Amino acid sequence: MKSILAFVSLACAVAAIPAQSPLLVNEPIDADFHVDGFDIDLSSRRLVQMEGQPPVWMTELDKIETKAQGLKFFDITDAPDLGSSARLRVQQSFPTPNATEQVKGVLKTLSTDGPIENLEKFSSFRTRYYRSDTGRQSQQWLASKISKITEASAPESLQNLITQTEFSHSWGQNSIIVRINGSAPVDEGIVIISAHQDSTNMWPFLPAPGADDDGSGTVTILEAYRALITSDFRPVQHVEFHWYSAEEGGLLGSQAVAKDYEARSANVIAQSQFDMTAWVKRGTKEEVGIITDYVDSGLTDFNKKLVDSYLEIPYVETKCGYACSDHASWGKAGYPSSFTIESTFENSNKNIHSANDRIDVSDEFSFTHMLEFSKLAVAFAIELGGWTKSD
Ligand code: BES
Ligand code: ZN
Repeated sequence: MKSILAFVSLACAVAAIPAQSPLLVNEPIDADFHVDGFDIDLSSRRLVQMEGQPPVWMTELDKIETKAQGLKFFDITDAPDLGSSARLRVQQSFPTPNATEQVKGVLKTLSTDGPIENLEKFSSFRTRYYRSDTGRQSQQWLASKISKITEASAPESLQNLITQTEFSHSWGQNSIIVRINGSAPVDEGIVIISAHQDSTNMWPFLPAPGADDDGSGTVTILEAYRALITSDFRPVQHVEFHWYSAEEGGLLGSQAVAKDYEARSANVIAQSQFDMTAWVKRGTKEEVGIITDYVDSGLTDFNKKLVDSYLEIPYVETKCGYACSDHASWGKAGYPSSFTIESTFENSNKNIHSANDRIDVSDEFSFTHMLEFSKLAVAFAIELGGWTKSD
């Protein structure tokens, strides 16, 4: 405890933010400073890029402080050249939704039961911060949950088409990739549905249940995956579900994955990010927020058509105003990316990055709202992945 207080005190001093508690004691800066359960070398150097500015080197401590001040950035240390081969790729176009029967069949099997149970557990880790012990434990729990769902829900012959891998990162919490192999060769295309699994408090050592950001997206796409495999979904294209690590560290996990796909010249035809899907602000009507900046406009229009065709609620266009989630890594790599959120940016959950990002904080946290996003993920997978005729 003393060490946590010392860190907060240290960070407040550096940030010139007045320390909130009289209990805080200033202690000298120590490069080997460590907090139990966290593996952070505060003096290590990171290459950080803020909107419209050249990248700058700063220490990990300065990076934490920069985030706490509300500044937005990509940490490009490990993927400075992401997108350098993008110009070699051809522009994609997207179909008009037409797999109505198959999509509606799967939508009927969606339920809030799994999301409720899974999110109660997932948001009970003290934090899912990517450099913390509990962040690693939450990732292991998620990986084992996904494999149990595959075993329990996918018919045996479909199980042979499914692979689950951990994409390793140096910081310990790995990204998770599940692929349903398509009948077509992989170079014909990969469809990606994603969320970020990590959470953070404004000060990373403090509790971060991350129920909405992004526990909600995590269980939203897991429910879509469960429903699809329960219905023996056999795609033509390869359909993948990604749960990224370290989004809160500056899109680190998704940049590493996108860099790997780019290096292998993978043909990603579409990526759809789900980050915050649960909040319906009191006094507002339920809507799907469709982000229109830092996205592919054709794919975004396609998402609008899916909402009109398959959801119970309308969409509303909105903007983050910055590269606010993992879709931006795919966009930077030159792949068509899209992002849908719980509401307009303005009406979204203001408890994120705090100990109050909990399910039980308010009745504005809605599992039925979340389920609309599982519908969108199911429709995205079927309409873009295709469904092979069953024999
Ligand atoms: N989920 C948030 C982004 C967000 C916030 C979307 C509010 C919609 C409404 C995301 O996890 C996040 O916190 N992003 C960072 C930026 C990122 C590049 C580190 C942020 O907004 O500070
Ligand atoms: Zn966040």
